[in-house]
Amino acid sequence: MSADHEFAADWLSLREPADHAARPQALLDPLLAALPDSSPLNVIDLGAGHGSNLRWLAPRLQRTQRWLLIDRDPRLLQAACEQARHDPPARAIEIETLQTDLARTDFSWLSGADLVTASAWFDLVSADWIEHLAKACANARIVALFALSVDGRWQFLDTAGDIDSDRDDEFVRNCFNAHQRRNKGLGDALGAQAAAALPRILAAHGFSVMTRASEWSLPAGESMTRALGRMLLEGWQQAAAEQAPDQAERIRRWRDRRRARLDLGRLGLVVGHVDVLALPAA
Ligand SMILES: C[S@@+](CC[C@H](N)C(=O)[O-])C[C@H]1O[C@@H](n2cnc3c(N)ncnc32)[C@H](O)[C@@H]1O
Repeated sequence: MSADHEFAADWLSLREPADHAARPQALLDPLLAALPDSSPLNVIDLGAGHGSNLRWLAPRLQRTQRWLLIDRDPRLLQAACEQARHDPPARAIEIETLQTDLARTDFSWLSGADLVTASAWFDLVSADWIEHLAKACANARIVALFALSVDGRWQFLDTAGDIDSDRDDEFVRNCFNAHQRRNKGLGDALGAQAAAALPRILAAHGFSVMTRASEWSLPAGESMTRALGRMLLEGWQQAAAEQAPDQAERIRRWRDRRRARLDLGRLGLVVGHVDVLALPAA
């Protein structure tokens, strides 16, 4: 994670186990039941990064698949393909990539798709962008599965799993959530508001929509909590200080307090996300 608009492969790799553990199984059965029998099944992954969504979803689709991974970062797309060559995520799968800026909303690549998917993507886009996508998917009657949209909740936990509060948690969270709404090149970003806007807009376009929580649950003391927690604290601090530069010193002190407890294994974390399944009208 970074406060600018680049996504480092090491950040995406670090978050991948937490992302995969968070994804709700409950949306899988209705997804599989709604997908057409096409062979191969044509899947499009928006903002695919280095392929985390592919690695979670492809083994669960139980059929021959052709994936199109779309991202503006060619290095991430290349990493996704290399990993898939080395360790194919499903038995019968073809993977193609498209390096493009998704700010262009002609969405011509949607043609022929059976399933459009994305993970950790919608906080970056505007409500208008979702409107364009929802309209295009509704017209083409495409099933959609959108995973891991942050909902703006994060909470620190103590070793017993109870809430661990710091006087500046809420202040920093508010600064960070405001920073997330800055334009990232895809219109005024929804940030955490995407979690509510996405199902609402899809439903308005006639989709039958199901949402499930997909929060990261990171217990105090575990090595993944320490590693991910450190990166999160750095990202939250950097973004919050950019949002409230006159409070940078207060935010740095908050980061130091939280970091000290995290390093001692006394701090766990919950970070809220939602998954959304949208089925086109019958
Ligand atoms: C938070 S990462 C998520 C990556 C991946 N879906 C995952 O779950 O690990 C967001 C991705 O969106 C891509 N991205 C950001 N803005 C974009 C744009 N305007 N057009 C295409 N891709 C973009 C980034 O390069 C990055 O790979």
